[in-house]
Amino acid sequence: MGKLPSVVAHRGASAVNPEHTLAAYQRAIEVGADALECDVRLTADGHLVCVHDRRIDRTSNGRGVLSTMRLEELESYDWGSWKHPWADLDEDAELPGLDVRKVLTLETLLATVRDAGRPVELAIETKHPTRYAGLVERRLIEALARYGWAHPKVGTESPVRVMSFSWLSLRRIRTAAPGLRTVLLMDRVPLRFRDGSLPTGVSCAGPSLEIVTAHPEYVDRAHKHGHQVHVWTVNAETDIGRCRELGVDAVITDRPDVAVRVLGMD
Ligand code: G3P
Ligand code: CA
Repeated sequence: MGKLPSVVAHRGASAVNPEHTLAAYQRAIEVGADALECDVRLTADGHLVCVHDRRIDRTSNGRGVLSTMRLEELESYDWGSWKHPWADLDEDAELPGLDVRKVLTLETLLATVRDAGRPVELAIETKHPTRYAGLVERRLIEALARYGWAHPKVGTESPVRVMSFSWLSLRRIRTAAPGLRTVLLMDRVPLRFRDGSLPTGVSCAGPSLEIVTAHPEYVDRAHKHGHQVHVWTVNAETDIGRCRELGVDAVITDRPDVAVRVLGMD
């Protein structure tokens, strides 16, 4: 069997920890994830923060639309106590401190990856690219450039790849930073790309687990076109094993600890 899929921690180790918090990402690094996945959104005062939903209600104790709020307001909310995994583990267990469960800026996540003590990659997903006329992508490239990761030196590769369901968003990224890897996320494969090809300039295919379950031949087709295949969101042990058998290149999972164990079993 070929190379093992790399393990990408979806929103951090989010099955157990509150998603997109520093606690979730630190845990993912501890359990051996190869890469971290995060969604980015723009605040009213131009900061990129790691949050999935348009509204903050589900994952914080605040309410409202994130893009209307300044970073300072987002930082006043608790982004961790909605999820109490520790209570299941140990009645006396305490919640991690507020510092690791507050809203996470992309800047802090980039510094965490840089300081991880071992190579860790980052898969950043842009949300709602048609709003903001490219501002999200511009801010993202500026942030990566501060770490030398937007324009990697010849012969080196950035630890960052950018993912999106939007081809437009990936095109903006490729235009601004041609050396960055890009992943086109798909919940269905458009007819013209069912042969495994991708739009010009996109490096990797990002099909859902449902796509590769129903059409396992898609993995080989994409490989024949020279594209890696990164599958989301793969949480069950049997699905992780199946992805390995199919030769996928990365599994994006809420359970990086489980994926590391299953993939390391033989
Ligand atoms: O990594 C891809 C996956 O995260 C896409 O779906 O909704 O979890 O952002 P979503
Ligand atoms: Ca995502």
